[in-house]
Amino acid sequence: MPILSHALPVRTAKTFIRDLSLGLGLGLALAGGAAQAAPADEPLADMIDRDLKVAAAQYGAMLAKVQDKPGFPRTLENGQVKLVPWRDWTSGFFPGSLWYLYEATNDAKWRAAAVDYTARMAPVKFDKTQHDLGFMLGASYGHGYRLTRDPSYRDALLAGATTLVTRFNPKVASIQSWDLWPNSTWQFPVIVDNMMNLELLTWAARTAGEPYYREVALTHADTTLKNHFRPDGSSYHLVDYDPKTGAIRGRVTVQGNADASAWARGQSWGLYGFTMMYRETKKPEYLAQAQRIAAFYMQHPRLPADKIPYWDFDDPAIPNAPRDSSSAAITASALLELANFSDPERARAYRDFATAQLRSLSSPAYLAAPGENGNFLLKHATGHKPAKSEIDVPINYADYYFLEALLRLKATLPGR
Ligand code: GLY
Repeated sequence: MPILSHALPVRTAKTFIRDLSLGLGLGLALAGGAAQAAPADEPLADMIDRDLKVAAAQYGAMLAKVQDKPGFPRTLENGQVKLVPWRDWTSGFFPGSLWYLYEATNDAKWRAAAVDYTARMAPVKFDKTQHDLGFMLGASYGHGYRLTRDPSYRDALLAGATTLVTRFNPKVASIQSWDLWPNSTWQFPVIVDNMMNLELLTWAARTAGEPYYREVALTHADTTLKNHFRPDGSSYHLVDYDPKTGAIRGRVTVQGNADASAWARGQSWGLYGFTMMYRETKKPEYLAQAQRIAAFYMQHPRLPADKIPYWDFDDPAIPNAPRDSSSAAITASALLELANFSDPERARAYRDFATAQLRSLSSPAYLAAPGENGNFLLKHATGHKPAKSEIDVPINYADYYFLEALLRLKATLPGR
């Protein structure tokens, strides 16, 4: 479901400034395709209920373990849950999963936990050093506002949008993704992941009655569409620009196998991002790009039979390469939305593919049994293989998009 885009009252610029000033006052087990078969005949409603029960058991135990400590659960490292500070780009996903559990169960205990973890993210809205404010604030405050209508959540989101647009450079026609690292040769790096941060801006434009935020989001998406994609529909990870002229200086990877390879999660971010931007704008070019990415991913000859990709479609070690369950969860969620905008034949293919992915993720090969996996939900995600970091582990964003996809699938079932 959209994080932020339920029908919201359009606000005047004057109201926005008032609201804003209020806000400102404040292991390779699956290598070789040896995954266990998914239970293909389980009714989907039963599968979703079973998954949500596992999620409640796992996140209940996780909360009991971490709630008194500072930080947000991100992954499992040396058998321990790794907690990260609010400034980590993944900090919003744990509160986001708590909000989804509240939405799924209507149980006040999840709401209280989500409120607690959302409040811990208060400084994010003023952080000008990164582009990931859309992920961080959308998953936490965005769901909080959607589900509670607490105006302080709206104020935090609008403040975050105001912060995020400071990274926009009109010459490049993009938001800068990362600040320059020491010794890096880049001048203005933009990664495909950045598409995911644009929903905060289209929402803010609508909510505050401020078209500038929407212009920034569309301009960024148009530039990504023009410069990040290859003829086969796959994307480069990072395009570096000259900030004075907007000229492209290079197309490289950081988290993928090679500059010319297709890093699986990058394809998923592009698919999800252009689907979301089509929903937000109805620009046909965005729909066409989302459908091109879907075709690349779904028809890829190196996609395993269980439809959970290797971490990079072009890793020469395939089939002895780690999978990325996070890419599958993001893709399943994106395809369930893309189906709503597509002709009946494509819509069926997208729903079938997403359902197959969710059946695989709901099988014991990927879904933890209660008590396992450090109390995360999904096993076998890969974060940053070239940095030898987070390979074949649970990661909070795999869980978050899995829950989102399950709720999106549930909404398509008869009688729901
Ligand atoms: N946005 C960073 C990642 O997908 O790992």
